[in-house]
Formats: sequence, structure tokens, C-alpha cells
Amino acid sequence: TYLGIDIGTSGVKALLIDAHGKALGEASAPAVEPVRPRPGWSEQNPADWWTATLAAIDALKQSHARELAAVRGIGLSGHMHGATLLGENDAVLRPCILWNDGRSAAECAEMEAAFPGLRTVSGNIAMPGFTAPKIAWVRKHEPDIYRQIRKVLLPKAYVRLLLTGEHVEEMSDAAGTLWLDVARRDWSDELLAVTGLTREHMPRLVEGSAPAAQLKPALAARWGMSDAVVVAGGAGDNAAAACGIGAIRPGEGFVSLGTSGVLFVSNEKFSPNTEGAVHAFCHAIPDTWHQMGVILSATDSLNWLSRITGRKQAELSGAAEAGFKGPGETIFLPYLSGERTPHNNAHARGSFVGLSQSTDAAQLAQAVMEGVAFAMRDCQRVLADAGTRIDRLLAVGGGSRSALWLKLLATNLDMEIALPEDGDFGGALGAARLGLCAAEGASPQAIMSMPPIKAAIAPDSALSAAYSDQYARFRALYHPIEEARQ
Ligand code: XUL
Repeated sequence: TYLGIDIGTSGVKALLIDAHGKALGEASAPAVEPVRPRPGWSEQNPADWWTATLAAIDALKQSHARELAAVRGIGLSGHMHGATLLGENDAVLRPCILWNDGRSAAECAEMEAAFPGLRTVSGNIAMPGFTAPKIAWVRKHEPDIYRQIRKVLLPKAYVRLLLTGEHVEEMSDAAGTLWLDVARRDWSDELLAVTGLTREHMPRLVEGSAPAAQLKPALAARWGMSDAVVVAGGAGDNAAAACGIGAIRPGEGFVSLGTSGVLFVSNEKFSPNTEGAVHAFCHAIPDTWHQMGVILSATDSLNWLSRITGRKQAELSGAAEAGFKGPGETIFLPYLSGERTPHNNAHARGSFVGLSQSTDAAQLAQAVMEGVAFAMRDCQRVLADAGTRIDRLLAVGGGSRSALWLKLLATNLDMEIALPEDGDFGGALGAARLGLCAAEGASPQAIMSMPPIKAAIAPDSALSAAYSDQYARFRALYHPIEEARQ
């Protein structure tokens, strides 16, 4: 059997699969929610990921001891970009600055000025979400900590260090640091130099489907495993989700409604479009790349509305669905944490436009779901500008449980969206599959199949024109609102 571990911002999920990729059992453990010491900041303690990882696997030991003991390969998936700073003896120097932290906008501009080739080599704009600008911020604001840095790891590489004792990273996550030469799949000395670092500070690189290191004997004994368990390179959570739904061939992709929202498409070659703030990264399997549009607050927008109204997310989306009659009066801009694609503006903020005395929570919830669908439509537009054709989209993430949200997406993206039977794969299945590939030397093409599909959600042609109009209004709002806020 094989074990996939998905280290998410809100918790860790561990999934056991057999050699055919069939799920045998899963367990989760919540993480301590990220803290926001200042508006736009977001941090989490690496020790909490480890606590949650142990808790999830220990829970599998309770429920599936026999299957867990038979594990031959482990794959890791993790939230991307987080800067985990290690000093002497791998001691954590400060809380991890997470993917949704926007503090380093000034450093991004400084980095691009310092190395004009940055966008060409990295394939990406310097965005505050990425890892390198966070180090530039630490260098400027916390020089004592910067001086002590021996290694910088991404979240899942830190968990791998505790599992195996080795510093290893794979290409899909490494591409999100802004230190990788994405076309050549290697660290770039020039990019590292922009933040005063060298290869010495980086983990060793492997492909996601290749072996990275061996599980420590003490942990193997704790879970009843043999002493020859391989830990694979694994993948950043998005590339892992793609492996889980079989999106590894050109044109195959997914739309994810998680905390953040992602439109992901596989590419046969490195395909940057920095103009539209598209992310152009390596995929987790050799010789494959992918593009993403990333919006920072997808279900997190509904989560916020839920917090301030005191009503559960499912209750809000249910109320929106019950009252749904097409586009409403209210328009929501989902930039609660700033935005990456297409605006690349960490300082952008959200808005409700068009409120009236009769606006109720259900209408606000509908506007939130529409605003997120419009933001995903923006992502599709800039991916198309890069010449990318999307042939197939599956829906993943917690938000895909809402039939209304899926209909809004299909109608706005003007394409059919397939919903897998188990709607919430996350990265755990893809990670487990990468663990299988690494342990058995299996070909990813043979393993990364598409899951059974429960439903195909078609665009609602009766609503297409109305949503195109509403989308045009949505697009017209961003610039004037941001200008007025300056
Ligand atoms: C991708 C990104 C997010 C995180 C969320 O660039 O920042 O999707 O990976 O976990």
C-alpha cells in the first residue's frame, strides 16, 4: 500500500491507497489556523504541521493498522510557497510566512529592479505570495534572523525533513519559490543571488514521482512499517491535485474552489505569461509543466461572510441557491487578501457594490459566489491570452459541493465541468500516487488516471448573456475602486 499526506493550511489529511489506486482509508487532523499579526500577513508554526501529520497517521494506525503496516511508498503534498527558515541544527527561526501573506510587495519591486532577467528565468512575476520575496522582507526587517538562515524549506519539505532527516524538494513546489530556473528544472544561481542566498541554502532537487529519501526507522517502527519505506518527491498541493484527477496531459486541468481558487492546466512545455500574472510552474512529473491562475480568496470569501454573519457556509450557499434567479443587484470583488491573477496586487481589497435596504445574507452569499466565478473567468482569460487551450476541467475543493457554485463556474467559463464522485480529493490522492510511482518505479502515465465522474455540469445557456454583462460590470469596477482607495 501507499500513503499520501496532504499538508493543508487548515489541516493534514492522510490517505492510504492500494496498488490500483483504490482508497483504503483516510484520516485527518486539523492544523492551528494561520495567525494574522497584521492585516495582509499570514503565519503558521511549522511544529503544528508536524503535530497534525503525526496525529493523522496515528489515527490511521488505529483504524487501518494492517494497511498502514504494508506501506511501501509515501508521497507528500503541501501548501505552496511558505518560507520555513531553518538555522543551526535545523532549528525553526520564526513562524512560516505563508502563501497568502502579502507583506513583501515592496521587496518584489526591488527584486525585479535588481535582476531584470527575473521574469524570464523564473517564468513568473515576483509576487508577494512566492517564497523569495518573503526572504527579502526578512533580510530587511529581521536581519538577525536572516543572518542565521542555513536552509529555506517549503512546508512539505519541512515535514519530509522530520520524516526522513533529509533536505529534499521537488520541481512543482520549487517552481513557486522564484529561485528555480523553471525551463531547466534547476536552482538558478542568479535568482538565488537576488536574495543573497546560494544553492547551499536550498534542499536537493528531485522529480515529484522519484524517490527523495527513506522514512526514519523509528517512525517506520511507530507505524508498524518495514524499514524500507520510500518517501517520494511529491508535489505542491495544486500539482498533487492534478495527479489525483489525472490532469497530466496538455490541455487537461481543474478548477479548484478551496481556501484559494485555482485554474490549473497542464502544458507540454514551459509556457509563461507574466503579463497576465499567470503562474508558469513545473508539473510533478518529468518533462511536464503547468500554468495556473490563482485567486487568493475563494471559499475563504464565503468563510469570511460566514464569520461576520454567524451563519454556516453551507447554510449561506444553500440560501443563495434557494433564492437564485440569475445575476443579482450586488457585485462582490473577492480581493479580501489582495489578488494574484490577473491583478498582481497584494494591496487590493474586496468590495460589495450595489447594496440596498432589501439586500439580505442570501443575496450577499450569491454575490460572493458570483464574484469568485468572475475571478476564475479572469484567470481563464489570461491563460487563453498565453495561447493555452483547456480541453477538460474537473472541479475539486470544498466549494465544489455547491451545485450553484458549479453552475456559475460552468456558465462563466463557458465549458462543461466534470465533478468527480468523491468531490474532495485534495492533494492526498495525487501524493499517494506519487509515492506509488517512486516506490515501484511505475510510470506516472499509467497511474494518474481520471477518477469516476459523478456529474457533468453544463453552462446554463439561458444565463450566459446575463452573466457576460455582469462580468463586464465586475471587470469595470476594479480599477476605479483601487484608484479611489489610493
Ligand atoms: C498556489 C497557492 C495556493 C496554495 C494553497 O500558488 O498559493 O494554491 O498552494 O495551498
